[in-house]
Amino acid sequence: MSNEFPGKKTRAMLERGIPLFRNGLKFDVEMQKAGRRGFRAARQIVVDKAEGDFIWDLDGKRYIDFQNGWATNPVGNAHPEVIAAVHAAHQRYGFHYDHPLRYELAEKLLAIMPDKALSRFNYEVSGTEAAEAAVHLALTYTKRRYIISFSSSYHGNSIAGKLLSGLGGSYNRYLEAWTGGVIRAPYPYSESMPANMSEEQYVDYCLWYLDNHIPNSFVPRDNIAAILVEPGLAEGGNWIPSSDFVQGIRALCDKNGWLMISDEVLTGMGRTGKMWGIEHYGVVPDILVVGKNLSGGIEPCAGIAARDEILGDNDAFSSGSTFAGTPAGCAAGIKTLELYERLNLVESAARLGRIASELMSSWEQYGIVRQVRGNGLLLGVSFEDWIVARAVRDQMLQHGVWAISDREDAIRMYPALNVDEAVLREGLAIMHNAIRHVDEHGQNVGDSPGWPTGGAGF
Ligand SMILES: Cc1ncc(COP(=O)(O)O)c(C=O)c1O
Repeated sequence: MSNEFPGKKTRAMLERGIPLFRNGLKFDVEMQKAGRRGFRAARQIVVDKAEGDFIWDLDGKRYIDFQNGWATNPVGNAHPEVIAAVHAAHQRYGFHYDHPLRYELAEKLLAIMPDKALSRFNYEVSGTEAAEAAVHLALTYTKRRYIISFSSSYHGNSIAGKLLSGLGGSYNRYLEAWTGGVIRAPYPYSESMPANMSEEQYVDYCLWYLDNHIPNSFVPRDNIAAILVEPGLAEGGNWIPSSDFVQGIRALCDKNGWLMISDEVLTGMGRTGKMWGIEHYGVVPDILVVGKNLSGGIEPCAGIAARDEILGDNDAFSSGSTFAGTPAGCAAGIKTLELYERLNLVESAARLGRIASELMSSWEQYGIVRQVRGNGLLLGVSFEDWIVARAVRDQMLQHGVWAISDREDAIRMYPALNVDEAVLREGLAIMHNAIRHVDEHGQNVGDSPGWPTGGAGF
């Protein structure tokens, strides 16, 4: 195997994508820009094989997988038991809408909700659809028209998903005329506080904004249906909100008759070392959104759980994608939940998360690092800016660790909940070296021109 990175076969495959996929037309421009910055654009991997804690690229290079199917593989890559369960469901049912597995999985899922009050379930195909369904359910149940969501939040890539998300920049360009029903509120990032506020003051301000500024300046409080919140701002950079903030949201919802929707697509099912991210805060949402991990890393499955009276009798709420709750998706979910129990995955995530946080605790000493964050295996490090983050990610890739930095100033890691402890330690040691290297040598590191992230859009 040559030391060239990415290797020849990977490069050839990426080149094959230039005329096929979005943004191919600006490939040359992006390469020139990367060259002018002296920064080797982030490399991309084309996965040739995935197994357990590792993936291999087309050139046979092995990587520790902290990207983890974008946080969808709670038991590592290609778990044989989940594959077998999915295969059996395919063979027995093919695809049909109604089948016993949708009943079985719903019962099992409702049994592990953060509270028995969340007693009804509705299947969706993806996290995006599930977040949208939660919003539609809240609007139709309350007969109100507005939803509050947060800056830097992410709820999906459909049109409604984009409108509900707070990623800013060009994310919503040309959708401006569609944003009518969403009010975005500030999220109290612990990293940089405005006007030298303390974190407590900033949280107070954000809660004041919800309870005063929005009703006084935008929309009467009795026309707000719900607050949509991630108990850990995942795609927005793995931020961990304070108890005061999350509990404050619950209190405001109770006071104003607003529903609280906890979007647990990424924080749910053990990622934070508890089954649900919201359980860190001792409050119960009215609607909970689940996806990603439920697939067992093999077959999409998602949905919402809600209180009986919200989902039990609501003719105005409509839902029902053809592929919501497929036999194979439900089989994946059932087997995955069985593995959660057998392998103690939630406890495992909590334990491994403590080890990771301990290993990462010294990294704020480096000038390029702004903040190290962790809650269970929801792990993130933020940097001076996204170019530095990319440079660190690039170094990590070259040395065999795959993590996420999606044109953001952070690198996010989502190891499997049962990642081998030695692999976790090795991956974080490589990341530590990468940070040290970029801190010492600057962002102009690397030994060959790289590739913009073509498939994902530069
Ligand atoms: C909190 C949250 N909600 C919704 C989504 C969308 O899920 P999907 O990509 O499965 O549609 C994501 C995806 O990252 C997410 O993190």
